[in-house]
Amino acid sequence: MHMHKYEKIWLFFGIGSLFVFLAVLGVGAFAQGTQPPSCLTTIDPEKVDQTPPFDKPGLVKTGDNEYQLNIVASAFAYTPNQVEIPKGAKVTINVATKDVIHGFQIAGTNVNMMVEPGYVSSYTQTFDKVGEYVILCNEYCGAGHHLMTAKVKVVE
Ligand code: CUA
Repeated sequence: MHMHKYEKIWLFFGIGSLFVFLAVLGVGAFAQGTQPPSCLTTIDPEKVDQTPPFDKPGLVKTGDNEYQLNIVASAFAYTPNQVEIPKGAKVTINVATKDVIHGFQIAGTNVNMMVEPGYVSSYTQTFDKVGEYVILCNEYCGAGHHLMTAKVKVVE
């Protein structure tokens, strides 16, 4: 069976539109990467203090060696500002801001999130190395930006 010229054209068109589709998908995925990692969970920034789990921020055990760490960011502090995590713990970190955009980076780890008002930013990290880690804000948020730090202690 041989192909007619217009069949080839349509085949070419079909493959072409597949590539266009894939390119759009790729660009879409890339654009999403510039959003907070978890932009699906929304929160009223005015009511962070009353919204669980941020009404009781801190470390919560959720399973065998699994934890949730809920942190409230506000100008210019994190609540709580010191956390002890058992070595080897798998921790899902959730951060919400009460005011402006803040950053949430744990120096020396892969944890590096932008925290936008209205959204809960989440990241899961396993802490395998004992030590002290500094949490810092890497989004300029005002006069006290450089003072906005907290500490994570990974203990045996
Ligand atoms: Cu918060 Cu910079």
